[in-house]
Amino acid sequence: MKMQGLDRFPRAKLAHLPTSLESLPNLTRHIDLGFGGLFVKRDDCTGLAMGGNKARQLEFYFGDAIARGASVVLITGAIQSNYVRCTAAAAAKLGLDCVIQLEDRVKDMAVQYHVSGNVLLDELLGAEIRRVPDGEDESGADRALDALAEELSLKGAVPYTIHLSPEHPPLGALGYVEAAAELLAQAAEAEIDVGSVVVASGSGQTHAGLLVGLHACGRDDVSVHGICVRRSASLQRARVLVCARAVSRLLGLGELVDARDVDVTDSQLGDGYGKPTPESERALVMAARLEGLLIDPVYTSKAMAGMLELAQAGAFRDRSAVFIHTGGTPALFGYPPPA
Ligand SMILES: Cc1ncc(COP(=O)(O)O)c(C=O)c1O
Repeated sequence: MKMQGLDRFPRAKLAHLPTSLESLPNLTRHIDLGFGGLFVKRDDCTGLAMGGNKARQLEFYFGDAIARGASVVLITGAIQSNYVRCTAAAAAKLGLDCVIQLEDRVKDMAVQYHVSGNVLLDELLGAEIRRVPDGEDESGADRALDALAEELSLKGAVPYTIHLSPEHPPLGALGYVEAAAELLAQAAEAEIDVGSVVVASGSGQTHAGLLVGLHACGRDDVSVHGICVRRSASLQRARVLVCARAVSRLLGLGELVDARDVDVTDSQLGDGYGKPTPESERALVMAARLEGLLIDPVYTSKAMAGMLELAQAGAFRDRSAVFIHTGGTPALFGYPPPA
């Protein structure tokens, strides 16, 4: 299925697509609630330096960067950021320099958090890393990146900044508009009646892209359940709506999504961003032992815990639910083993 409007955006080939749609028979049996079944869309297998959702998103940012003649890409993120790791990999692959601002957002973490997992890969991928003490203020982080970009351009570089804050065009969400169409085509072919999609909701670009993509395909009967991993449900709801509206506008599709379409829960947020919870640790172990499926400690394990909670609450009725595995597995090595 081809998505209207996407061809207008420059794009760099980074992800292995399509990713597979697989059933989760053992988890489905384990929950035993009689609904259609659980499936997983394997976006952990997008291929770019251990994969994840960011590979789809970065195709559009790097397409834009290259179209603008960039020589260096700048990004900010937490020490175990998957986004940053994928950006470092994309820059390496496409022959650009990469400068990373790594924020110490998650306090009181063991030494492996600071040296292993994603941050180890950032170094291996040759990115220049600048460590900064804090990072709760997204606009502040963006301003710091812009200042750095200014410095680099004075030295003759052509910088391209991937901003964090929602005022900037959410080019990454375009990758998930396409993913929605990909998922619908796979489900139709396999005769799976998808009624729900469950996804970790952080910047909200994956969530918003899926929502817009489903609506653009005329499938507003498929609910997207966003599991908050970064901020409260009320803040996240507003953020996803802003992002979805911006993506629809980018695609020239008008007002496809309204506030009632944005479903989020912060029931799995626990102590906040980057902190595992007892439920997320249980979900991580369950996915590994029942399905041989590796999920990460603080995004997909919270999303999986959220999916199990929704299943138990009867949210999927008699239809099937698809878990979007957004990746993040390198962070397994940046955290202690689940209790
Ligand atoms: C593994 C993983 N899953 C989900 C997300 C959330 O995706 P988004 O930022 O598009 O909401 C992230 C964000 O960094 C992530 O690293």
